[in-house]
Amino acid sequence: MTGLIEIEGVTHAYPTAAGPLPVLENLQISVPENEFAAVVGPSGCGKSTLTRLVAGLLLPDEGGVRLHGEWVRSPRSTVGMAFQNPVLLEWRTILDNVILPLEIVAPRMGRRERVDRAMQLLEMVGLKGFEAKRPSELSGGMRQRASLCRAIVHKPEVLILDEPFGALDAFTREDLWQTLRNLRQEEPFTTLLITHDLRESVFLGDQVFVLSGRPAHTQYVLDVDLPDDRDIEILYDTRSVEMLAILREQIRIAQGRSTAEQAVNA
Ligand SMILES: Nc1ncnc2c1ncn2[C@@H]1O[C@H](COP(=O)(O)OP(=O)(O)O)[C@@H](O)[C@H]1O
Ligand SMILES: [Mg+2]
Repeated sequence: MTGLIEIEGVTHAYPTAAGPLPVLENLQISVPENEFAAVVGPSGCGKSTLTRLVAGLLLPDEGGVRLHGEWVRSPRSTVGMAFQNPVLLEWRTILDNVILPLEIVAPRMGRRERVDRAMQLLEMVGLKGFEAKRPSELSGGMRQRASLCRAIVHKPEVLILDEPFGALDAFTREDLWQTLRNLRQEEPFTTLLITHDLRESVFLGDQVFVLSGRPAHTQYVLDVDLPDDRDIEILYDTRSVEMLAILREQIRIAQGRSTAEQAVNA
C-alpha cells in the first residue's frame, strides 16, 4: 500500500565550515492516509530536519517526499505544523491567531465563516471563553491547544508536530494527548509526530519509527496494536509495557549503547 506521506530514500547533509554534515541517509517512512506516525530517535539525529523536508521548507540532496503521490518541492497549504514553542502572535487575540491560516489560504472566506470554524475548534479543545484573550494571558498548555487549532483550522491533509508537548508538565501533556486524539476522531488527518517521549509515541501512534543515530535511517518500526479507543490507563497494560520496553531498547541501540554495556556501566 502506498502512503499519503512517502519519504523515499531521503539523504541530506548540511554544509558546515568543517565540511558536509550527513544528517539523513536513505530514510524510508510511509504513512497511510489518516494514520498517525510517531518518530523517535536520539537528540540531534535529524528529526527536525525531517519535518522541514516533509513541509517543503528544505529540499533533500537525494530521494524525496511525496504527498498523495506528488513530489514536495515547496511549502503547501495542505500541510499544518505545530512546534514545541507555540509561536502565537501577541498582538492578536487567541481567536485571531487561530484564524490566521484561513486569511492566507482562504482569502475569500468571510469573517463570519472563519470565526465559526475557529470557534468550533476552540470549543473542541476546551478554550471556549478564552478567544478574546492574548497569548500571554494563557497557560503554556492553553497556548499549545490554541496552536493545535491554528495548525488544523484550514483542514490540512497532513499535520506535522515537532515535539509540541515537550515543554509542558506531565499532566498537561497527557491532557493534550487526549485532546489530539479527540480532534482526530472528529476530523481525521494524517499525522507525523516527532517526540522524545516513548509513552506519547505509543499512546498516540499507529506506528512508531525509531531513527538511528546520525546520519539517521529507519532503524525499527513498531506497529502499535492497541485499540483505537484509548485512554491513558492503557499505557499500564502488559502490551503497552512490552512495547515501551522494545522502544527503550531500540533507543539504546540508536544511541550506540547496548543493554549489556549499560548493565556494566550501571
Ligand atoms: N541549518 C543547519 N546547518 C547546519 N547544521 C544543522 C542545521 N540544522 C541542523 N543542523 C545539525 O543537523 C543535525 C540534526 O539536526 P536536527 O534535525 O535539528 O536534529 P533533531 O531534531 O533530531 O534533534 C544536528 O547536528 C544539528 O546541529
Ligand atoms: Mg528537533
